[in-house]
Amino acid sequence: MTCVVLVGNGGREHALAWRLARSASCTRLIATGAHPSWPDAVEPIAGDPLAIAREFRAGLVVVGPESPLAAGLADRLLAAEIPCFGPTAAAARLESSKAFTKEVLAAAGIPTAAALVVERGDPAGWARARARCARGEVVLKADGLAAGKGVVVCATGAEALEALEDMHRFGGAADTLVLEDRLTGPEVSVFALCDGERAVALPSAQDHKRLREGDQGPNTGGMGAVAPCPLVSGDQLDAILDQVHRPVLVEMARRGTPFRGVLYAGLMLTPDGLRVLEFNVRFGDPECQPLMLLWDEDIVPWLMGCAVGRLPDGKPQFRSGAAACVVVAAEGYPDAPVLGTQIPDGGPVEEGVLFVAGARRSGDGLVVSGGRVLGPTAWGADLATARARATAAAQRWAFPGAQIRRDIGAGG
Ligand code: GLY
Repeated sequence: MTCVVLVGNGGREHALAWRLARSASCTRLIATGAHPSWPDAVEPIAGDPLAIAREFRAGLVVVGPESPLAAGLADRLLAAEIPCFGPTAAAARLESSKAFTKEVLAAAGIPTAAALVVERGDPAGWARARARCARGEVVLKADGLAAGKGVVVCATGAEALEALEDMHRFGGAADTLVLEDRLTGPEVSVFALCDGERAVALPSAQDHKRLREGDQGPNTGGMGAVAPCPLVSGDQLDAILDQVHRPVLVEMARRGTPFRGVLYAGLMLTPDGLRVLEFNVRFGDPECQPLMLLWDEDIVPWLMGCAVGRLPDGKPQFRSGAAACVVVAAEGYPDAPVLGTQIPDGGPVEEGVLFVAGARRSGDGLVVSGGRVLGPTAWGADLATARARATAAAQRWAFPGAQIRRDIGAGG
């Protein structure tokens, strides 16, 4: 029986709270962030997660976003002997430093795009970066955390040279740059729960990062996601973990910084086989929303198993069928979201949940307060049914100026 403290208050954390509230072994659920639609079971208590965990004798702290992990929240909790779902700062470098990730991938022999790593202050490195950009077909990445925006995909040399000069807008996160060969192929997200030694697969998922239908328009934090992804069968998942996640665990343990938490591998299925594009050290947003809807048992023993370095035997249980999340984004997102718009009630989501991200409560209703506003998420016996239900809900909840994609999950 566990008191759980949840850190974070976006759409991903709404989905985590929804699942935790249904977990028999979660006897008390405290959230450190405010949210307009926390489940009734959640007690919102603002403050430092460590102080709250101490005061309420929490048995587990679940950290949703990457920033507190990169800043050492798990280290502080572990020093106080409070189990934390989410890695230490040293292990979170798999997300907080793209150059470090490249180093780990090379050391572990995991397939990834060829890359050049340069320091912005080094004239010789800068000259190499310019020469690489001039050849085009390159992906520029800020080394550090940049709120999911530090990656620029360039086709031509002119585009790449301009983007290179513009990387300073990411501030210190772009003091080091990673320039990768641009690859082609569909992208999939493969998540594994990790206890430092063992990795257990969750259903595959697919995010849709471009703003507009047909994968057009600027990159976003994600306009919708489905799980499982039809491009990765259940049988392939374990082979992917053998090729990617398990060698990472061995390499991180060898370095004395074992990885505990959920390791999210962003993969591209290229004509030459899979390549790792990036790692994240937390659940994806919006991939977490369909995963939590599919999860079909008490989640706490699994998150606790990661935290204490001893995952339960076997595999977590998920509903059959599929789930889809269709994001309702604000007018002007991603560059300049228009805030303050009233959101008319769109009614219940058939076989699903209205997860809320960038909205606040005003009277009885909701008002836009962020870029990705709502994430109606629905289950179906097959993907077509799940996506039809989620898309219908997104259309009903679309407020004036809202942007949605009606092709989430249609490509597979
Ligand atoms: N879905 C993309 C991310 O969470 O980073």
